[in-house]
Amino acid sequence: MFKPFVPPVSYQVADIRAEEILKGLSIDDKLKLIGGYSRFFINTIPGKGIPYVFMTDATQGVRLVTSIKDSTIVKQLSKTTAFPCPILLSSTWNPALVRQYAKCVGEECRAAGASFLLGPGMNIYRISQCGRNFEYFGEDPFLTSRMIENYVVGVQSTGTSATLKHFVCNNTDFYRRRSNSIVDERTLNEIYLPGFKAGIDAGAMAVMTSYNKLNGEWCGQSSYVINDLLRNQLGFKWLVMTDWTSVYDGTKVISSGLDLEMPELKALANTKALLDSGKVKITDIDNMVRYILRTCIAMGFYDRPIQDTTFQPDYIAHEKLALDVARQGIVLLKNDGNILPVKKNSGLKIIALGKYMKEMAHGGGAAYVKGYNNISLLEALQNEFGNQIEFIDSLGESEVASADLVILSIGTFDTEGADRSFDLPANELQNINRVLDLNDKTIVIVNSGGGMNMSPWIDKAPAILYAWYGGQAGNTAVAEILSGKVNPSGKLPISIERKFEDSPGFGYIPADWQLYSGKTSDQFTHEAYDIPYKEGIFVGYRWYEHKNIKPLFPFGFGLSYSKFTYSNLKISPKKFKSIDTVEVSFTIKNESVITGTEIAQLYIQQVESKFPRPLKELKGFQKVVLNAGESKEVKIKLSIEDFSYWNPDLHRWFAEPGKFIIHIGSSSENIIIKQAVYLL
Ligand code: BGC
Repeated sequence: MFKPFVPPVSYQVADIRAEEILKGLSIDDKLKLIGGYSRFFINTIPGKGIPYVFMTDATQGVRLVTSIKDSTIVKQLSKTTAFPCPILLSSTWNPALVRQYAKCVGEECRAAGASFLLGPGMNIYRISQCGRNFEYFGEDPFLTSRMIENYVVGVQSTGTSATLKHFVCNNTDFYRRRSNSIVDERTLNEIYLPGFKAGIDAGAMAVMTSYNKLNGEWCGQSSYVINDLLRNQLGFKWLVMTDWTSVYDGTKVISSGLDLEMPELKALANTKALLDSGKVKITDIDNMVRYILRTCIAMGFYDRPIQDTTFQPDYIAHEKLALDVARQGIVLLKNDGNILPVKKNSGLKIIALGKYMKEMAHGGGAAYVKGYNNISLLEALQNEFGNQIEFIDSLGESEVASADLVILSIGTFDTEGADRSFDLPANELQNINRVLDLNDKTIVIVNSGGGMNMSPWIDKAPAILYAWYGGQAGNTAVAEILSGKVNPSGKLPISIERKFEDSPGFGYIPADWQLYSGKTSDQFTHEAYDIPYKEGIFVGYRWYEHKNIKPLFPFGFGLSYSKFTYSNLKISPKKFKSIDTVEVSFTIKNESVITGTEIAQLYIQQVESKFPRPLKELKGFQKVVLNAGESKEVKIKLSIEDFSYWNPDLHRWFAEPGKFIIHIGSSSENIIIKQAVYLL
């Protein structure tokens, strides 16, 4: 049974103390509280038991910012660990590791004086071009949920509040303050809400709304989004803040269920006038303040110094964890003729070149963490292979052609505030093709936050390693995988399409608009544009399977240097009632001569139903470490929720009796064993 986080002070006790404090607050005090201070603080009310509360980003460790207007309240840390990005974390399919990762991040928050971590981000990967995909956990709501619940418990176990973001349907960064996501009820519930629900059920203490509109209203001022979906339906009872400058109408904000406008009072700047004119009531403002107070009291933020400067995170342990996550989350996509692993000291001459050889690959925006002890890919390769590695700055045809092996680094720079093209720029594509044409023993290392177009050259590349943005230690893991010191085990939390036109998100950019780079995106002047989520629930592999389109790499795919076999599927009971637990077991064997790790996946298919259902949906997975020749039995339990869908007529989850097929495999595409079961 999953044990959710319980705050140190209960809701009831926090509520009583919040009421006491509230009684002593003037209107001005209350207005100071409902808007942020100095970009990353909740304000203090001196003499009334309310100290400053500090928040920090978030995505792959604690971001050290220079933009805090008042830097006297907390002392910046001299360093913070750059962990791998969340899409890499999700590629580990290891919830226990996610919990440890989040605990390390939480410890660095405590050292930094931050009470709220402004993460985890958890929007679903709908469009491969989205600039923030690296900050999220991939395309599947079940995998995202298992990761997020562990993230929440891990980070909050350190006394730091998680902030689930960005609520909700914030699936592109193309003119992010201008987009209107149009999403139907079933799709919302099956695809876009489960991750948030899992985080809330795990005890998350804060939620951040998103920049976009949902069905016509800005999320941060939408009573439907906050009161109806978040508070009433998902049962969230703690703090709700806006994303940074994302609400516009004070009256709406006040009645939406939102509590805190960040980074400062803007839409709410005229609250006094609204109160005077009777458009809003002081009781509405009191409610906002109550949520802020209760959350901070329940977490103990008012009862400890903002920063304990004597507290030093265990950086050595954190760096080790960062490396371990990278080792588990880098995905081997191709390995023709077992070109990998590359034997060390084999005398082979290896040419290293390309985009991120010397420069650290990383995502941009609020997610960026500088790190320390950063090891470039070139340094990591030299550490692993010594003087076998020869670096060339630009493409030298004879060196490349005559090398025994070539390691080519390619990738994208992904960042919030913009989407990037699925296709690589023409000059980069040309270089890749030239290297591959010159030497057919070229290993391609990809750094990116999501999928990219590999079709133009994939047939020429014998090996591809998808390394995402690996943080400060990520390149060491790449080199260790190349040499075979580490046997790769990561699997894709996304599908990678053959061409962007194949994907469910294709067509989201209005006809006469262009992808852009840079800051133009944040202008408030454009008309909002609509993004109809016309594919409905068919996102990611649900889409490719439904449309019978073969992606280049399917969801859940990743190679190992070991080979695994699956057998002996047993399911009991085969005919079950809604109160039953269905127990699934099967055996995995490592048929190779080295230790390897397999991530077994369980998908459910409903054969016939009143509403269209995906051909398969992930409902269980397990990561198994197996010695050479070893077998293990895997057990996965299913409950009625795993067989249910959101019924838009009934407005609730519903399990329709009938035949289901349980699929077990090594990816969404490679199903190895299956059996039918029947819901009576
Ligand atoms: C981002 C948030 C981030 C906030 C504070 C915004 O631009 O969308 O994810 O937490 O800035 O830095």
